[in-house]
Amino acid sequence: MEYSERQLKTPLFTAVVNYAKKKKISFHTPGHKHGDGIPKMFRDFVGSRIFDIDLTLLEEVDSLQDPKTVIKEAQKLAAEAYGADFSFFLVNGTTIGNQAMILSVCSPGEKIIIPRNAHKSVLAGVILSGAIPVYLYPKYDLELGVICNVTPKQVEEKIIENPDAKAILITSPTYNGIAADIREIVRVAHQYKKILLVDEAHGPHLKFHPDLPLSAMEGGADMCVESTHKIISGMTQASMLHARKTVDILKLKRILQLLHTTSPSYILMASLDVARMQMATQGREILSKVINMANEARTDIKAAGMECFGKEVIGREGIYDVDVTKLTIDTRAAGNSGYEVSRILNKQYGIQVEFAAPTNVLAIMSLGNTKEDIHRLLKALKEIKKGYTPNEELIKTVSSVRMPEKESEVVLSPRDASFSNTKKIQFKEAIGMVSAEIICPYPPGIPVLAPGEKITKEVYEYIMFLKNLGNVINGQDDKNLNTVKVVWDARLQAAGGNYIDAEK
Ligand SMILES: Cc1ncc(COP(=O)(O)O)c(C=O)c1O
Repeated sequence: MEYSERQLKTPLFTAVVNYAKKKKISFHTPGHKHGDGIPKMFRDFVGSRIFDIDLTLLEEVDSLQDPKTVIKEAQKLAAEAYGADFSFFLVNGTTIGNQAMILSVCSPGEKIIIPRNAHKSVLAGVILSGAIPVYLYPKYDLELGVICNVTPKQVEEKIIENPDAKAILITSPTYNGIAADIREIVRVAHQYKKILLVDEAHGPHLKFHPDLPLSAMEGGADMCVESTHKIISGMTQASMLHARKTVDILKLKRILQLLHTTSPSYILMASLDVARMQMATQGREILSKVINMANEARTDIKAAGMECFGKEVIGREGIYDVDVTKLTIDTRAAGNSGYEVSRILNKQYGIQVEFAAPTNVLAIMSLGNTKEDIHRLLKALKEIKKGYTPNEELIKTVSSVRMPEKESEVVLSPRDASFSNTKKIQFKEAIGMVSAEIICPYPPGIPVLAPGEKITKEVYEYIMFLKNLGNVINGQDDKNLNTVKVVWDARLQAAGGNYIDAEK
């Protein structure tokens, strides 16, 4: 059978639908029994069909924990479509995939090189594994108002400084669609016999169009994870992990079994099967339309006097390639912060963007968007720009926002810090102490403070600045950020930590 014919198959979705059609009497989970037990208000809104495919582990629909039939076949087709040796369906998003990748390559105390702007799920993988993070600091491009990607040179320098590092994990493309030079980073990593992992949460579509950045698997990465639900047609939480034979597949499978629910949603898994089929058989055509629409939107946004970068920024430091389906709309010309423009778009125009940053908003274009959507966005942006007087002071302030550039001092492994004795103290008094928690503005989910790191004045001021701007900051216990949890452990004093003196 030809590739195109094979890829039309949807073994898991078909099996799930066939099972549902049999209308068997259910004496098994889930408790709603084909939706009959679901409150009417819920069923009336979502319809009844969805409950028929909300199944559990049954012979006819296979088991994610130990796939033998239709899930195995669906994963094999995914591996073929993505150019991997093995693919795994994930029902807890790329989050569980990042954790599994790290746990499968790092033992406690082993180093892993990760970007400072890695998603908090990467940090979660570091905490769970007991690995020691060594950070790469991607450039923050003040003009564009976005964090760029890591370069092969940065990766090589970090490996030379840390020859004992086990693996490197990079995020590519970033939320804003900025891709790293995967092929060269893979070459560098493999030259030093390191494993290269890629958080490709924002790239499940890359493989299917030549005008998009090279995908991690095409670039030769050892493993990558993709949020099928973020960009293509997977349901929310549905992701995939792709791997090569170069990694310990049995260990990876064991770890996925440990982390995964034993009741994975067949709705999510079936959506992965269908999303793969759609991309493998019609991806190029569908994505061509999305790319064209996004490029037209970009041209129109620029014509309206607002910046929205595309491929012309390729070649700037940390920008190897750009996924043009992402529209990072600079709001400075509208006289307001991205946060404010996002709020206005939502409240006054019924338009919800993916996220807001100090100087921009991110609009993700994907296969469900239409020209009408673009038209409405453009109209709204033009009106916002017209109606608002530039607030020079605010623009100056928001333009100066950046990630702290100085390398943070990792005093303890994130795991030791997370599980040590801790104390809540006034944030301002915590400068010089060791954080026991993550502090992460979200979206885009970039931690500015990780467990085990010394709280510097720069970090403190940056967090307070974001707080005062009204940014959503997650991860920490005290939502108001008046206090912070620090490590309170005499062992640190012995190790030369300077915070114990602060005990009152
Ligand atoms: C770069 C990156 N990695 C991982 C994740 C987590 O993905 P998921 O929501 O699929 O668990 C996100 C989510 O925003 C992300 O932006």
